[in-house]
Amino acid sequence: MQLPDLNLARRRTREEVKKIDYKLDSKYKNIGKGKTYFVKTYGCQMNEHDSENIEGLLESVGFTKNNEMEDADIIILNTCSIRENAHNKAFGMLGRIKHLKEKRKDLIVALCGCMAQEEVVVNEILKKHKHVNFVFGTHNLYDLPRLISESTKKTNVCVYSMEGELVENLPVKRVNNFKAYVNIIYGCDKFCTYCIVPYTRGKQRSRKMKDILHEVNELKELGYQEVTLLGQNVNAYGKDLDEGYDLSDLLVEVANTKIPRVRFITSHPWDFTDKMVEVIKNYPNIMPYVHLPLQSGSDRILKLMGRRYTSEEYKTLFNKLKQIPNIAITTDIIVGFPGETEEDFNETLNMVNYCKYDSAFTFIYSPRVGTPAAKLYESDNTSLEVKEERLYKLNDLINSYSLANNQKYLGKIEKVLVEGLSSKEGEVFGYTETNKLVNFKGDSSLIGKIVNVKILDAKSFSLDGELVE
Ligand code: 5AD
Ligand code: SF4
Repeated sequence: MQLPDLNLARRRTREEVKKIDYKLDSKYKNIGKGKTYFVKTYGCQMNEHDSENIEGLLESVGFTKNNEMEDADIIILNTCSIRENAHNKAFGMLGRIKHLKEKRKDLIVALCGCMAQEEVVVNEILKKHKHVNFVFGTHNLYDLPRLISESTKKTNVCVYSMEGELVENLPVKRVNNFKAYVNIIYGCDKFCTYCIVPYTRGKQRSRKMKDILHEVNELKELGYQEVTLLGQNVNAYGKDLDEGYDLSDLLVEVANTKIPRVRFITSHPWDFTDKMVEVIKNYPNIMPYVHLPLQSGSDRILKLMGRRYTSEEYKTLFNKLKQIPNIAITTDIIVGFPGETEEDFNETLNMVNYCKYDSAFTFIYSPRVGTPAAKLYESDNTSLEVKEERLYKLNDLINSYSLANNQKYLGKIEKVLVEGLSSKEGEVFGYTETNKLVNFKGDSSLIGKIVNVKILDAKSFSLDGELVE
């Protein structure tokens, strides 16, 4: 039993992070033979990619994928902690699975991801969800074969709160064969006061550039059209290494592989350098799209959030990015941070009016146990109704700018990477270089290809078009 520990998770040391190459212990080779798995993923792209590794690990020991949770021999919930509703969804699912387990005693149930790193969650599982066979954390995905083979009726918890080694070469089963996620940096050291991620994902650890380039080159050889470089804060890439390179150097090298499309998420304004802006501008295969979380337009709230920039500094960076031709910029905004006044909220609206974002993810603040803002929340006297009203108002404003931005595409010809069949019969969907969703007439033969599409109609959340030669 190795239980999560919030105090350990908070600690940061200067010790160098060792790298190990994953190798499957041959004694686990056949533990999944003749059995099937079902992995349910919640949360961000980081989790989606972890699930690709989890599925890769499961298949490496003989399991095959089952699309029906009800029939699978092992169910794994890869969870998210970012807000309360993500918690509720995972606990709701555990409730459903309990009924399955009552009928099938040999079903193996496991929980991993960010919730596994939280003391409060693990205590609740041990008390109220005894049908969970084991819990493992974000730092030890590679333990999965061992945990399955050692699984018993009694819940086992194996969660490390101090990040261990950086594990390279984990097996991976990618969702797509034309676009791929590539981790470049794990963890986060920013400790924004509302955020649980620095505790659940640990210290900032960059992968070595040569390992990343090796992965991207392999993907290119396999015919992949797009890579998305992933990290909680990709702009901090390299800061924890003594190699003298940063995100701008990495972007240049990845662009030089000539993979058709390079994306990167997420950026923290604090670490965004002029050199990075120049590189994005100069390389045509680095997509002109930046997700630049604002969180709040009020300097007072930004300070309480520990965001390390003022609204003026954000605007300065925003204007530099806007010099990149055709760039699209999206953002994240939290409303109802503890103590946010009407005036603070109006400053957020002012910033949205200034930046006219292409789109935004907006959230009501959700207190996370162990974070500094959760203490401020105890004396927060803004009601949920008021916070909801603010959210609606903000969303209306953002949607109006999304529509106005999308209308600028009318009549233009855009390069679209086709991803799949639309819900509307006879149509496919894909994304422009600026990450706009486009639907148009076409069939499955187009999936995985970059094609030219003329934009004929614009809505707030998508574009419609037609295929052109
Ligand atoms: N409550 C609400 N939103 C949050 N986010 C992070 N933590 C919280 C929280 N406690 C939002 C931020 C971040 C995005 C991924 O989730 O806007 O950028
Ligand atoms: Fe959370 Fe801030 Fe780190 Fe983003 S930069 S993961 S919001 S602590």
